[in-house]
Amino acid sequence: CGIIGYVGPRPSQDILMSGLARLEYRGYDSAGIAVIDGEGDLGMRKRSGKLAVLREDLADRPMPDGTTGIGHTRWATHGGPTDVNAHPHLADDGKLAVIHNGIIENFSELKSELVGDGFAFRSDTDTEVAAVLLGREYAATGDMVQAFRAVVARLEGAFTLLAMHQDHPGMVVGARRNSPLVIGLGEGENFLGSDVAAFVEHTRNALAIGQDQIVVITPAGVEVTDFAGSPVEVEPFEVTWDAAAAEKGGWSSFMAKEVSEEPDAVANTLRGRIREGHIEIPELDGMDDLLTGIDRILVLACGTAAYAGMVGKYALESWTRVPVDVELAHEFRYRDPVLSPSTLVVSISQSGETMDTLMAVKYARERGAKTLSICNTQGATIPRESDAVVYTHAGPEVAVASTKAFVAQITALYLLALHVARLRGSLSPEQIAENVAELEAIPGKLSRVLETEQDRIEQLAHWMGDTRSVLFLGRNVGYPIAMEGALKLKELAYIHAEGFAAGELKHGPIALIEPGQPVFVIVPSPRAEGEMHRKVISSIEEIRARGARVIAIAEEGDAAVLPLADEVLRIPLAAPMFEPILGVMPLHIFAMGLATAKGLDVDQPRNLAKSVTVE
Ligand code: G6P
Repeated sequence: CGIIGYVGPRPSQDILMSGLARLEYRGYDSAGIAVIDGEGDLGMRKRSGKLAVLREDLADRPMPDGTTGIGHTRWATHGGPTDVNAHPHLADDGKLAVIHNGIIENFSELKSELVGDGFAFRSDTDTEVAAVLLGREYAATGDMVQAFRAVVARLEGAFTLLAMHQDHPGMVVGARRNSPLVIGLGEGENFLGSDVAAFVEHTRNALAIGQDQIVVITPAGVEVTDFAGSPVEVEPFEVTWDAAAAEKGGWSSFMAKEVSEEPDAVANTLRGRIREGHIEIPELDGMDDLLTGIDRILVLACGTAAYAGMVGKYALESWTRVPVDVELAHEFRYRDPVLSPSTLVVSISQSGETMDTLMAVKYARERGAKTLSICNTQGATIPRESDAVVYTHAGPEVAVASTKAFVAQITALYLLALHVARLRGSLSPEQIAENVAELEAIPGKLSRVLETEQDRIEQLAHWMGDTRSVLFLGRNVGYPIAMEGALKLKELAYIHAEGFAAGELKHGPIALIEPGQPVFVIVPSPRAEGEMHRKVISSIEEIRARGARVIAIAEEGDAAVLPLADEVLRIPLAAPMFEPILGVMPLHIFAMGLATAKGLDVDQPRNLAKSVTVE
């Protein structure tokens, strides 16, 4: 869910609505705002559906404006996406409003207690329980902050909670536990947001709030305490991207914009980290001993980020000679893993807020591992919970399905691998310099893929508009790319898609091949080791003999694929280890093209949210 709060001199409705528009990627099945108007009355409007429904409703039936407000865009967990379940939720006297992100795990006990006290509930949400509880506590003391503290002390689970009371205009109270919340510092006005996108058009000065902390904002300032009320220090940071970076510009969708930014995402992630053919990662200064001492790397992530991790495994192992495992964060979290202080856990998360990944990082730390996060969002929770962070500089990614962040994540993993290889002496300076040169050439090559292939891929996607199933095959570094191609198609075009390791074909998946079945094959370079090219060509022959329609992604000049494939999409020549960064782009373009051909919303696919901040 996305959360915003505002106090200051300006009418808040526009500020809340434009903040919510920037946060909509976090959830978009319902939205709502509450403001304390000039008369000191609390007004609220909330609607199921996308933010546009709320916007139209406010235009048709305007509500008095005021200078204190909160807003929410929802991704439903407890209670379906209806008007009543949308946030904010009110206390029983209607004077106090609450918004929430997360899951209150003990909500049913609290609800029974409140029902026993005679309170009635309008919605099925866990959030309303917090609102009613806060109302009861406030009635007892008349002190909003004390009441809020009493409430958060009773909540279990994960939450970001914001509340305001009509008797206290000019004040919004917030708390966080395992869910994101940041403060935006303005002049005579202050903001709260799930992330900086909420307020970046107003201020770039931000404060990161720690776990289990409470914040009170007023136009005059902010106060942060722990749950017990003792003041705590908070870390200021400056948002480095401007509001325009999070806008669509002239593009048809955020995703179209973000795919076109893949070359920049790689270039910006490299920027400042390469000096005279060597890798320098300033964020990792002082960590040489740690990185030299590790004997195992465990990569944890979810979704697309996990596929970036799988690509990274090939480079990390090959270059550093440290054994690497990659595991889905939510699977790792619920077993009894073997970790030691010489295990380096590398988490990968675009948002830095994915709850499954966050919990896995904490679990790994508790069990003694060292943690390093690869993250695209400054001030996010996962880097703050880790021993070190290497930021990807892909810029804000708004479309729900990850694209430019994926290529940036692979880039960061490669930088990390080369850095560790230098420290451990597992690659010679010459080998490092060669790989660095390959990395530096990637942005230009990605731009070439856009120039030469984009139109053809879109055309192909258009022709395939009624396709019901697509398979993807890859080998070695191409295998995670096949999985990523399939995931994108599921997410965006809602069709059945699977990615397989090409070698696995004969062990089962080949039974799926029937005449006309489209299969994308990521063909390794003829220069790849172990005759991989020849083996993948044989796989193509096998599926073709059974009637598959083959779309090959192959490097420029690879003539072997021509007689076998129905379509060949070309990528520029690169050392085999670097091909996945190039090979994935056609798959991103294809998924976007197919979804567009089906008339679907590529930025906000059904049922998904960009950062899943619940387990
Ligand atoms: C969600 C998104 C995916 C993303 C995954 C991990 O499921 O829909 O696109 O890959 O979360 O997100 P993260 O922010 O941790 O990279």
